[in-house]
Amino acid sequence: MGFNDLRDFLDALDERGMLRVVEGADWNLEIGAISQMMQETPENPVLLFDKIPGYPKGFRVLTNMLNSPKKQALALGLQHNLPDLEIAQLMKERRRETASIPPREVSTGPVMENQDRGDKVNILKFPTAKWRTLEGGRYIGTTTLVINRDPDEGWVNMGTYRQMIHDEKTVGFFVEPHHHGMIIAKKYWARGKACPVVAVYGQQAELFLASTASSPWGKSELDVAGAMAGHPIEIVKGPLTGLPIPANAEIAIEGEVPPPEVDSRPEGPYREWPGYYSQEPHPQPVIHIKAIYYRNDPILTGPHQNNRNISVGPVAHAGIAVWEALEKSALPGIRGVWAHANGLFIVISLKQAFAGHAKMALLNAVGARGSNSAYRYYVAVDEDIDPSNLNDVLWAMTTRCLPEQQIDIVRGTVSTRVDPIMSPQKRDTWDLTCGRVLIDACKPFEWMDQFGKHMTFTPEYERQVREKWSFLVKDGRGKHK
Ligand SMILES: Cc1cc2nc3c(=O)[nH]c(=O)nc-3n(C[C@H](O)[C@H](O)[C@H](O)COP(=O)(O)O)c2cc1C
Repeated sequence: MGFNDLRDFLDALDERGMLRVVEGADWNLEIGAISQMMQETPENPVLLFDKIPGYPKGFRVLTNMLNSPKKQALALGLQHNLPDLEIAQLMKERRRETASIPPREVSTGPVMENQDRGDKVNILKFPTAKWRTLEGGRYIGTTTLVINRDPDEGWVNMGTYRQMIHDEKTVGFFVEPHHHGMIIAKKYWARGKACPVVAVYGQQAELFLASTASSPWGKSELDVAGAMAGHPIEIVKGPLTGLPIPANAEIAIEGEVPPPEVDSRPEGPYREWPGYYSQEPHPQPVIHIKAIYYRNDPILTGPHQNNRNISVGPVAHAGIAVWEALEKSALPGIRGVWAHANGLFIVISLKQAFAGHAKMALLNAVGARGSNSAYRYYVAVDEDIDPSNLNDVLWAMTTRCLPEQQIDIVRGTVSTRVDPIMSPQKRDTWDLTCGRVLIDACKPFEWMDQFGKHMTFTPEYERQVREKWSFLVKDGRGKHK
């Protein structure tokens, strides 16, 4: 099972040498740049920044927290020293086995150790970084949870929508119109009311992972987070909004989002998940902060990645969602699914059982609930190819695929506003359509038995050699002198 809070997880990382404390880095770009630099090292440690100039010691920032399958597995209490695809399989099973555990209300919790209300509200008291050069402001809500309640049905939604600080008492956020949190806010606005909201800026991994994977309408992501953790998430009832606040959160706010005609302010630009600043600053809704709660020595969580080219989201989401959808379809033989490039490039490995099997898997993947975004390429490979290994996948694409017969383009599917290839004209008219590429990189089914063989050694012989000669791997230095 997972951890009770973020700090237990940090202890576990520390025990395994996976945590580095960095002192003295500046909030203005330096924290972001160090995070990028460290992410590109083989160790890729989780980074805890302390003694940030201009802020009290102990007001910390955590980055690179979940930017590898290994870290995600550890955060969820799963075995983490496994190949990536096996980790994704464990995460998929965890999600299926444990459908829902509702939160448990407690009278108070560590998040209430410090409470600022009224004039004392100042969100700038935390060392929020300016993460990257071109960003339009300081983004506090990069791994945030935004919690609101449907005014008609009473259930509580939780989603991750980035937030930029406007001033001491205001943050602005960007929410895609189809996301549940926005649909709920609009219900309040339609009645001329502000939408009460809680936002959290530092929390255990399960909450973030649940918050970034939309549950069906009406099902609370807090219940999903409890299921992932294996125990109810403890929550405190927000004194002002009555909304749940995770009791062990590091920093949380209560506030309200007025109708956009009452207050909205330009937000952005922000480096979107495909790796570009693809939107000009636009008026977006704001949260008027009414209260701030935080633990002693609070830890603000920052982006879990800072890649040069592309954001790497929670590794498992896109791949697992497609994998689940394929399993639910009648198609047999799915070995695994892996989402590269944050889901823009999805690879399905399967054991072909009939002509057209790979094509049907590709079409099902395009229609899967988890692939309703800017996902672009779908590749099917045979079961001997590890979908998480791009070298293997490229080998299959370049050797098993007749382009004129095995590549298709599906036109007119839906993408998103943040898709960098969306022209300004299409973005302006909300025509967010864009095609997807289906690549069947499996051996042609009809003559696959005659396809050139590629085995180097039998698995049994490889095992024997490993047993006899493994010392070469452990102590491979030449001893010729
Ligand atoms: C790291 C990360 C950042 C995200 N940022 C945003 C964002 O700024 N705005 C947004 O609308 N969705 C964002 N998303 C996607 C939503 O959090 C996600 O689709 C969520 O499931 C929506 O929940 P809802 O449908 O319950 O509102 C982000 C996802 C991730 C993984």
